[in-house]
Amino acid sequence: MFITFEGLDFSGKSTQAKLLHEFLKKKKIRSILLREPGGTTISEKVREIILDREHIEMTPLTEFMLFSASRSQLVSQVIKPHLKKGYVVICDRYYDSSTAYQSYGGEMELKDVLKVNDIATGGLKPDMTIFIDIGPKAAFGRANLRGNAKDRMENKNLTFYNKVYRGFKDIANHNKKRFVVIKGALSIEEIHNTITKTVSRKLNLK
Ligand SMILES: Nc1ncnc2c1ncn2[C@@H]1O[C@H](COP(=O)(O)OP(=O)(O)O)[C@@H](O)[C@H]1O
Ligand SMILES: [Mg+2]
Repeated sequence: MFITFEGLDFSGKSTQAKLLHEFLKKKKIRSILLREPGGTTISEKVREIILDREHIEMTPLTEFMLFSASRSQLVSQVIKPHLKKGYVVICDRYYDSSTAYQSYGGEMELKDVLKVNDIATGGLKPDMTIFIDIGPKAAFGRANLRGNAKDRMENKNLTFYNKVYRGFKDIANHNKKRFVVIKGALSIEEIHNTITKTVSRKLNLK
């Protein structure tokens, strides 16, 4: 089973992906935890290029192609082989992030993004996408609490993040079958419990 986590930066994706991974380990379910962009040597190098704050001249198309290149390598080298072996693959962001950030938030045509998403992944769709639903203002509040330096993606402005947020909501509405939408304002524990209940049901766990 292929599970992805989506949402704005600071929505709690990495926190919840890690907790789900630990939960499955305790249940003796084989699983791997991956993050995007990254997860292979090549993809991690591409990640460095994407997030480098000095790369202010990067065009929207270059950015999108780099995300797609990183994803394509991750799908072929890690995700598909693990799914074949029966692993639960947990991915912190996947192509819905490209759709939300590069199309809804950026300057790419939606149909082009969807087409390249499909090409980069060989059509591999998540079985379940957990969208942690929290708006930019609340998410930014957490960013300020964290206090450390932001990367190139996190440096974009509030108008951009409002568009991305609307994008995620729209994508969720168009993909109701695979999307699980959870209020990000709930506590870490409450969100985790909702996720484990949903995943357990899907995996037929006791
Ligand atoms: N449900 C929550 N309520 C309050 N704070 C949270 C919650 N989930 C995560 N956080 C905190 O918000 C920050 C961002 O969480 P993180 O999991 O790194 O988000 P993301 O991976 O989506 O950027 C961290 O400091 C984390 O401890
Ligand atoms: Mg994260």
